[in-house]
Amino acid sequence: MNRRTFIEFLGKGTVMASLTPHLLVSNTSFFKEFKGISPSDADELKLAKGLDYDVLIKWGDPINTSDTFGFNNDYTAFLPFDPANPNDGILWVNHEYVDPLFVSNYTGEKEKTKEQVATEQYNVGGSILHIKKNEKGKWEVIQDDHLNKRISGQTKIPFNWEHPIAGKKVAMGTLGNCSGGITPWGTILTCEENYDMFYGERNFKDGSINDKRSFLGWQKQFPNPPEHYGWVVEVDPRTGKAQKHVALGRCAHECATVKELPDGRLVVYSGDDSVNECLYKFISDEPGSLSKGKLYVANVRLGKWMSLHREDNPILQKLFKDQTEVLIRLREAAKFVGGTGLDRPEDIEIDPLNGNVLVSLTNNTGKDNYFGSILKIVETDGDHTALTFKPEKYLAGGKETGFACPDNMAFDVAGNLWFTSDISGSLMHREPYTEFKNNGLFLVPRTGPKAGEVIQIASAPSDAELTGPFFAPDGKTLFLSVQHPGEYSKSTEPEELTSHWPDGKDTLPRSAVVAISGKTLEAIQGLG
Ligand code: FEO
Ligand code: CA
Ligand code: CA
Repeated sequence: MNRRTFIEFLGKGTVMASLTPHLLVSNTSFFKEFKGISPSDADELKLAKGLDYDVLIKWGDPINTSDTFGFNNDYTAFLPFDPANPNDGILWVNHEYVDPLFVSNYTGEKEKTKEQVATEQYNVGGSILHIKKNEKGKWEVIQDDHLNKRISGQTKIPFNWEHPIAGKKVAMGTLGNCSGGITPWGTILTCEENYDMFYGERNFKDGSINDKRSFLGWQKQFPNPPEHYGWVVEVDPRTGKAQKHVALGRCAHECATVKELPDGRLVVYSGDDSVNECLYKFISDEPGSLSKGKLYVANVRLGKWMSLHREDNPILQKLFKDQTEVLIRLREAAKFVGGTGLDRPEDIEIDPLNGNVLVSLTNNTGKDNYFGSILKIVETDGDHTALTFKPEKYLAGGKETGFACPDNMAFDVAGNLWFTSDISGSLMHREPYTEFKNNGLFLVPRTGPKAGEVIQIASAPSDAELTGPFFAPDGKTLFLSVQHPGEYSKSTEPEELTSHWPDGKDTLPRSAVVAISGKTLEAIQGLG
């Protein structure tokens, strides 16, 4: 597929071309009747009427003769081979982190062995799968296809940067792969989010490693530098080749949302998912470059993008020895130049109709913000390279709107907004979250009698979070990750498991990617 048809097919072309007629075709009668679902605490993936799902693949399933599907699937992206056939292509899936109870049988009694750490490393990263709709209209993974591959915590990945990072040009693996993005040339950006839970974090004052932040303790068996993680990683899903993009900075990247400018340069938005952390954008200097350009941080109070380029800023020159150090210690640098700490900036989507940038702010319980919101960034003159913007609240979580803690978002082919919620398992079913019950998937219709309202479409199994919503280009399938069902199980004894999704009975819970379809999905988008 050539580059231009790929962009037209995947992104704005599809939405804009299909939206105009949809705006004219009234979906009034459908939305008048449509109610969605009520919150649920059942251990099932519950869907609104007229929607069905199939489990496409789940943790541990073989994908070829030597590889298996990883743990805790998150971001998904479907890339068709041919614009004329939306039913055959590559599915990329992130694997964010592991639960040692299920993955390595580590229960904390003694030191984790090297073998156990290696098993955990193998289960993060990403999966590349050839998937296809069969004659019955059901999606399936093409077993043993030459394209099927795993990228893991053990894959050697070079840095796309002229200087070494912590003395090396190549990192061992990728991890914390939360959400992501797609480049205009059809590669995947997979984002290393809570990297400190794997190898800890460097204490930059004395060079020591802060082990307390490392829940998984991999550094005890593999002393990799923490600086090798926390990057945006590009993967070519056709070859499995990967590289870490240092120019986009190092933090708990939730996602990397790309806008291609008319001249071929790129703007990439990314949020640092931690309380009181910042929102960033990278503007490339050259067409198609993710290494040459400048990184900015949002000052939301002033509506300004502040440069993180050392040459632009005397304070950065004083505090950091070079640009590499600024990018490695991005959080510190961001605060020095006036970056605004936000309430956990997670996923980012660009509205295909008006170019507004939506940012999920999940919550900040320390500031009594329990329910989160979606922030709208209106760039000056609609120009993504603008250095000024207007911030507005787009949608607030809470009892009136019926959702809490927004996270991943996606626009469908009619321009409706879909988003998932991420109430932490440790807070779910407790005040003030009780009435929201399990995490869910929500829809904000663009047109019709319910335009702007929030409608719950799906409810997740026990302890799970729905992540990685991604629409097939024809709008007829919604790929969705069901992540960490049963995460609060005390042991793998059947009676101590808090979920048995998706296989039921006494089985272990397994994260899985599902394909959702049905007449309701088509009616919502006005598809005939
Ligand atoms: Fe991995 Fe920000 O969710
Ligand atoms: Ca996420
Ligand atoms: Ca989240």
